[in-house]
Amino acid sequence: MKNAIELNQLQKKFGDKVAVKGSTFQVEEGILFSLLGVNGAGKTTTIRMLTGLSKPTSGEAYVGGYNIKTELDQVKKICNVSTQETAIAPNLTVEENLLFVAQIYGFSTTEAKKRMEEVMKQFSLDEVRKSKAKTLSGGWQRRLSIGMALITNPKILFLDEPTLGLDVLARKQLWKIISGLKGKITIVLTTHYMEEAEALSDKVAIMVDGELKACNTVDEIKAMTQKDSLEDAFIAIAEGEV
Ligand SMILES: Nc1ncnc2c1ncn2[C@@H]1O[C@H](COP(=O)(O)OP(=O)(O)OP(=O)(O)O)[C@@H](O)[C@H]1O
Ligand SMILES: [Mg+2]
Repeated sequence: MKNAIELNQLQKKFGDKVAVKGSTFQVEEGILFSLLGVNGAGKTTTIRMLTGLSKPTSGEAYVGGYNIKTELDQVKKICNVSTQETAIAPNLTVEENLLFVAQIYGFSTTEAKKRMEEVMKQFSLDEVRKSKAKTLSGGWQRRLSIGMALITNPKILFLDEPTLGLDVLARKQLWKIISGLKGKITIVLTTHYMEEAEALSDKVAIMVDGELKACNTVDEIKAMTQKDSLEDAFIAIAEGEV
């Protein structure tokens, strides 16, 4: 299986603080990969480096075979990201936000509209299509931002806490959408919902204090920690028991 993403000793420092301590791991093409860790573990920093939003202090990484330092334009063409802080244009309507992103990625007007309608349906955004993004509740803004990440048909999709602030029904719906994408594209997500990560992930990485402590299938991680659930395994690793 080819690798969609490869990290080699990728490190990020903020002053004296080492946010990511030289991570080395691979994400195989087409898998759903969950990056787990408690608040401040370094998940967002990792995603920001892989998507060109933040420059690594040292180390290498390849996304879709492209070097994130020297071929960032190519990286940006094939991936898209829904950031932890919902990034939408507040004064544009839902429709306009979706079209805007599709056009930035070079879709023709006809194609952009077609994709927009698909995303509207997929995320049940139709009833708010004419509303300005700033008038939507936080959860609806979140839905829109994930729609904006998917509208470009990325080969590699990064979702940083996609379910943050979503109500239980919206969360369920989103997990269904994500599971429907499994196998079609490569997905890297972060979440604090262990049960869902356990059910959906092909591979899981656990970061503790900037350091990669485990990177394997859920079954392997449970076996390694001798726990019955990913949540228990995660707690054991995060608390330094193993
Ligand atoms: N721009 C920055 N300047 C200084 N320190 C930063 C910056 N961004 C992140 N950090 C620090 O780097 C560490 C990792 O932060 P990061 O946002 O990657 O964590 P996270 O795993 O995404 O956490 P959360 O679950 O809370 O989103 C934290 O200690 C954080 O304070
Ligand atoms: Mg984060």
